[in-house]
Order: sequence, then C-alpha cells, then structure tokens
Amino acid sequence: MSVTIKSSREIELMRQAGKILAKVHETLGNELKPGMTTLDIDRLGEELIRSFGCEPSFKNYNGYPASICVSVNQEVVHGIPCEECRLQEGDIVSLDAGVCYRGYHADAARTHGIGEISGEARLLIERTRQSFFEGIAYAKAGNHLHQISNAISSYAQKFGYGVVRDLCGHGIGTKLHEDPEVPNFRQIRRGIRLRPGMTLAVEPMINAGSAGVIWLEDDWTVVTEDLSLSAHYENTILITEGEPEILTLTDSELAEGIRTGA
Ligand code: MF3
Ligand code: CO
Repeated sequence: MSVTIKSSREIELMRQAGKILAKVHETLGNELKPGMTTLDIDRLGEELIRSFGCEPSFKNYNGYPASICVSVNQEVVHGIPCEECRLQEGDIVSLDAGVCYRGYHADAARTHGIGEISGEARLLIERTRQSFFEGIAYAKAGNHLHQISNAISSYAQKFGYGVVRDLCGHGIGTKLHEDPEVPNFRQIRRGIRLRPGMTLAVEPMINAGSAGVIWLEDDWTVVTEDLSLSAHYENTILITEGEPEILTLTDSELAEGIRTGA
C-alpha cells in the first residue's frame, strides 16, 4: 500500500478542485424538482463541471457511462442516469460527483429529498451526514485511520441502520481512487497512522434497513437487498496537524458547520 502525502502545491490544486465541486453540488441541489429526469441532472452536472475548466472524474471511469451517479431511494450508489427515470415528490436522491482540476480530483456526494419526504427519510439523510462528521472528528495527524471507521458505524448503528460494508471511501489525488481504503464500519485492526498532507474521500453509505446490498444487471447500480432507503454523504478531506480541512464544502456550508458545531 502506498499512501501519498501531498505537497503544498498539490494541496492548493485540491482545494480549488474541492471548491468547484462544492459549487457543482450546490447548484445541482437547487435545481432538483419533481418531473426532472436523472439524465437531466447528469447533463447539467457535466456542463457545470466543464464550465469550471474541469473534467468529470467519473465519465468512462472503469466504463461508467455518465458524469454524475444518481441513485434514487433504495439505490445506494452508482445509479446510471436515464432518460425515462423521472424524480417524484417524496423520493430521496443521492448525487455523487467527481471533478478533475489540473490533474487533481475531488469527490463528494449529497442526498436530497424531492419536495415533501417522510420523516424516516429526513432522519436517514441527516444522520448519514452526521455520521461523516462523527467520523472525521478523529481525522487528525497521529490518530489511526480506523478510528474514523469505528466512529461512523458506532453512530449509525445507534439508530438501527445498516452500514454498507461492500463499498468504502478511499485516498484521492492524481487518481480518483488511491490507497488507503476508508471503511465505514468497525474494524479489528487500527489501520494506518494519519499524517498531514493525506487526502481522503470519506463516504458513509447508510441503509434504513439491513446492511446488505446487491448489484443490478447493469453491473453498476448498487441497491439495498431489502429495498429499504439508502443515503450517502461524502467529502474530500485533508489531514492536518489539527482539525481536518473539508475541501468539498462551500464557504456557506463551512460557516454553517462552525455555527452548529458539526
Ligand atoms: N464516490 C464514488 C467512489 O468513490 C464514485 C465512483 S463512481 C464511478 O466509488 F463511476 F466513477 F465509478
Ligand atoms: Co468516492
């Protein structure tokens, strides 16, 4: 395993990639409405990404056919945008996007509700987001990687949720997926020691029901085995001596985080 430590020049490029991706997510989130197709989201996302001088990291990655992964309700991740797939009031939709700016990737995901959603769905989205913050409270130099994993799963499991085990977060930089793997569930080993300059995509995927998932025939779309709802929240973070720097939040999201102590 080789975990890269980014130089200050590389960190600056990753910050720029992250800010662009935060803006892409903000815009997409504001555009979502009932009747829109998941392909509309992908087209808009790709256009936005390119308008910022970036490449969509996911397009053609291992053959993935789109720029934005759009996963609705029981779909966990890697849903493929489609012309006939229309969002409906009450759906929850996870958008996962990656951008590559001057050779450096940023990766982030958000789950949104379409119009009025159930209380169960709202809580799942909020707690999935919170599980990320519980995890990264341990993301600092000198700590061990799996302290993040353990904190995410301890928090999510308090609510009886299923923490997805078949997919993990990852290191990120000049490649979308770098070492190390960042699991979201409790580990027996403590994992590598975190060092300043490491950049990680931390991405809890949490199911309202059991943790089991299956892959659809398209070989991409991951769905919950029991068809329960699933939510996803991901940011690219930088390990520092102190608090981690979250690279894929807008300035207003950062201010909000400080205000709520998230
Ligand atoms: N955030 C996802 C991941 O890290 C996105 C990858 S989608 C793919 O696995 F299309 F690029 F594979
Ligand atoms: Co990722």
